[in-house]
Formats: sequence, structure tokens, C-alpha cells
Amino acid sequence: MKMTIPKSVELVDNELYFLDQTKLPTKIEVEKQNTIEDVWHSIKQLKVRGAPAIGIAGGYGLALSMKDFKNSSTQEFLTLLEKNGNYLDSARPTAVNLRWAIDRIINRAKNSGCSTTKELYGVVLKEAIGIHEEDKLICKQIGGHGQSLIKDGVGVLTHCNAGALAVSEFGTALAPMYVAHKKGIRFRVYADETRPLLQGARLTSFELHHAGIDVTLITDNMAAHIMSQGLIDVIIVGTDRVAANGDIANKIGTLGVAILAKYFNIPLYIACPSSTIDLATKTGKDIVIEERDGSEVYKFAGVLTAPESIKTRNPAFDVTPAELITGIITEKGILKPPFSEALKLF
Ligand code: MRU
Repeated sequence: MKMTIPKSVELVDNELYFLDQTKLPTKIEVEKQNTIEDVWHSIKQLKVRGAPAIGIAGGYGLALSMKDFKNSSTQEFLTLLEKNGNYLDSARPTAVNLRWAIDRIINRAKNSGCSTTKELYGVVLKEAIGIHEEDKLICKQIGGHGQSLIKDGVGVLTHCNAGALAVSEFGTALAPMYVAHKKGIRFRVYADETRPLLQGARLTSFELHHAGIDVTLITDNMAAHIMSQGLIDVIIVGTDRVAANGDIANKIGTLGVAILAKYFNIPLYIACPSSTIDLATKTGKDIVIEERDGSEVYKFAGVLTAPESIKTRNPAFDVTPAELITGIITEKGILKPPFSEALKLF
């Protein structure tokens, strides 16, 4: 019997569980999150990762961090809620979804008019659940809109993982592929392996293969060659933040793919929920790019591949300028340039 892949984030009887994505695809391990520190470390270490998923995880983490404060004053509760929110947000800087979810919960609590902390806790938990539930619907809507891009016989390239594992279900960039597959459309997906942490190999090829979708894994440096052979008709990737001018941040390597797409005249689509759109960030230059530990670069799967004392750079994301993007697939439809105009819808 085919195994089922657990959801990346799950709340069961008020207890929070994350699928440990660092162990995939070799081990399927679900970890209970007992404290706010557990949630912070899980986000930092990429046990839970992908922009919408860390928003959902952070939202639940924030709510559950307040469950033992039902006897404090409402002012103390709100002050601690803000402090815990800032702490969780410090785990990763680039994906705006984390800050978005935290702010949404804090604002909801502040404006609730609740007179007891017990009620406040209820409001906070309900909002966290609401964020998760909405995301499920949004993935389906993105899939519905994006599916029109996947015609019979096409080759689709994706980078990193913007699939079910990165979101609540279906994913963003992979949602059009799931919908097209369900409709019986025949297409091929090429998944970049996505160094240094191999989200494309470990997660995207794993989940698409598991779903029965025709997926071919390539290393990142093969993308140009595969495109030059005419095997790619459309590129769909996710994003961690969309700036007001349409510049986007996504997994390191996306910019290279976008430049190649321009050269080979292949349309590049970005898929995301509106929670990833950050109109307060004017352009890509204003997006903070997470710099991770060099050991992820000088080691491969934990094995040393360079002198341990070697100098490294490890930016986890890069910025793709709006001019290289053909369209942005959202739950409201596919946005077309000029994005600074189209994004005013949000
Ligand atoms: O470092 P990660 O694995 O969290 O990076 C994830 C990505 O870059 C995804 O493409 C992005 O978050 C979109 S997920 C729907």
C-alpha cells in the first residue's frame, strides 16, 4: 500500500506537530513541538520550511506559547504575545509570511475587545487555525488559475520546493501541476536539485514522484543545457516575498534560472498566496536576504567537501527583478506586468 506523507504542520488536540523535512526523503519523522523555543529552532533549522508553512507554523507556535498565561492580566497577555511574536519572527528574515501571520494574530487579539485572557487565548488560537484553513483553500485557487499554463506534452521546470511540503497542501508552484495531473494532462517536470540543502531533490522530486507525476531530477548546473535542448516550455517557482514593484525573493539560484529563461525565451511564472505580497517593501533591494552557516556549503549531506576553514558565502535566497517575470499566479488570478499596478489589487 502506498504510504501517505504526513502534513508539514498539524495541530492535533491542541498539540503542534511538524514533519521534520531535514530528514526527508529517507526518514519520515513527525516531531511534537513542546515549547516556543522548539518552534523557533524547527523554523531556523528548516525542519519546517517554505514561506507559507513557516507562517502557519509561527502562527500556531505563537498561539500555543500563550496557553499557560490565561491567568495573567489582559495587558500582560498582549505584551507577552508581542514579545513572543518578535522572538519567533527572528528565526528567519526573508519570507514575509512569518511576520504576516504573527502580526495578523497580534492585531486580531488587540482589536478583539476581550476582557479576559481566557477569551484572548481563544481568539489567538482561532486566528492561527484560520490562517491554516485559508491557506488550504488558497493553494487550490492558485492551482486552478495556474493549471491553464500546463498543456498536454509540455516540460515544466521548477526550483527548490514550493509544493505541499512548503504550504498547507498542494503547494503554490506545484499546485498547477497537481491540478493538471488530476485532469489527466500529460506533462514532464524537471526539478532542480537546489544546492546547498537540496530541497528540489529531497522534497520536490519526492512529493511529485509520490503523486505519480513524471518528474526528472537535474543538478542546478544542468538547467541551461536542458533549456537549450528545447525541453522546457514554462518555468514555475514559488517566492518568499514579493515587493511592491514586482521584484521577488526566492531560493538561491532562482535569479540564475530567470536569466536563463530570458535568454531562451521561456515564460517564468511565480506562484504565491497574497500573504507573500509585501507592499511595504518597495523593491527587491529592500528585502533582507538570510545568510546561513557556511557548513551547509563546505559540507554535503554532512560530509566535508572542502577544507573546513575555507571562506564561504551562503545566501539562502536571491532577488529576481520584475522585468524577468512573465506573471505572478495568486489566488485572485494570474497578474501580468506592470506588476506595480497589478499588485495594487492586494
Ligand atoms: O529555505 P526554504 O526551503 O524555506 O526556501 C523555500 C523557498 O525558497 C520556496 O520556493 C518559497 O518559500 C516558496 S514556498 C511555497
